[in-house]
Amino acid sequence: MPGNSFGQAFKITTWGESHGPGVGVVVDGCPPQIPLGAEDIQAMLDRRRPGSSPASTSRKEPDRAVIMSGVFQGQTTGTPILIMVYNKDADPQAYAPYADLFRPGHGDITYLAKYGIRDWRGGGRSSARETVGRVAAGAVARVLLEREKVTIRAYTIELGGIKAIERRLEVIDRNRFYCPDPEAVKKMEQRVRTVKRKGDSVGGIVEILAKGVPKGLGEPVFDKLDADLAKALMGIGAVKGVEIGSGFDAPGKLGSENNDPITPAGFLTNNAGGILAGISNGDDIIIRVAVKPIPSILIEQQTIDLNGNPKTISTRGRHDIAAIPRINVVCEAMVSLVLTDHLLRQKAIQ
Ligand SMILES: Cc1cc2nc3c(=O)[nH]c(=O)nc-3n(C[C@H](O)[C@H](O)[C@H](O)COP(=O)(O)O)c2cc1C
Repeated sequence: MPGNSFGQAFKITTWGESHGPGVGVVVDGCPPQIPLGAEDIQAMLDRRRPGSSPASTSRKEPDRAVIMSGVFQGQTTGTPILIMVYNKDADPQAYAPYADLFRPGHGDITYLAKYGIRDWRGGGRSSARETVGRVAAGAVARVLLEREKVTIRAYTIELGGIKAIERRLEVIDRNRFYCPDPEAVKKMEQRVRTVKRKGDSVGGIVEILAKGVPKGLGEPVFDKLDADLAKALMGIGAVKGVEIGSGFDAPGKLGSENNDPITPAGFLTNNAGGILAGISNGDDIIIRVAVKPIPSILIEQQTIDLNGNPKTISTRGRHDIAAIPRINVVCEAMVSLVLTDHLLRQKAIQ
């Protein structure tokens, strides 16, 4: 019931707060005898870490993954894998001025309504720091997916209103926004600089491409693959929309345009985004995620205090200007978790 766990066959539970001692995850259901080391997890955590982009917070976290259980002599044992990451650069006092105020765009007001108590140190559990656990678990899932030749990549196709036109996936690791269009990157950098100067923030769109996904993953009717992917991605902070394949363009198309004709060599197009009737069809899975602008901004805004009195607030401290590009690896992790879960469920019925 409490909603801190995700998945059925490959189940994860994340724990920890932004400015507490640490964050992490318990992964249950990972098959035994899979080679796994902290370095597999570290590589993914490094991509999520602050400071990797001009749009990122200046919080300096080494984010070293420690595997506390479930791995023996470099192999999974089939028992729960607990991955721990200590918070090294926590600064709860930076949030003391906002302890009695509700920050617009944040969960302060809803957490208090729900629990009657809230950890005001950087949003506590509503903070993006919670995604450390997701990325660590996603790294374990990725090891399993690589054995099945499934690859997953997320890249930025829009930031601050600047759209990527090209899809040159070979360039995404050569720029700090993980964007497949070098011309758009220059404009994005300019846009981020301008917005930062004004103390404001931007949003954008991340596209996720999963290749090599076998046919047949996904369950009728409530655990459809697309339904689980949407839930997984919507559960990331700042995500406000998910579309699969032609998504929100589909209603504007004719049936004859939106269907993907089938030939002996495969589908001619991929408007389905790799999923039909909630089950993978063997084609690439294509997902787009709408990410809202970062809520913590320097620009003064109206709010209220705990007693309902009108106040103004300007949120200082170490914040991203955009959740992109740090959110990209989180999206990859969530897609990895869903595909691994369904892969194991499919193996169970075969
Ligand atoms: C990777 C990532 C980084 C984020 N960085 C920040 C940040 O530095 N400052 C901030 O105010 N919000 C940040 N957010 C967004 C907030 O966590 C989120 O908007 C807030 O908790 C409210 O949740 P909601 O947007 O889902 O309604 C980030 C989100 C993600 C996924």
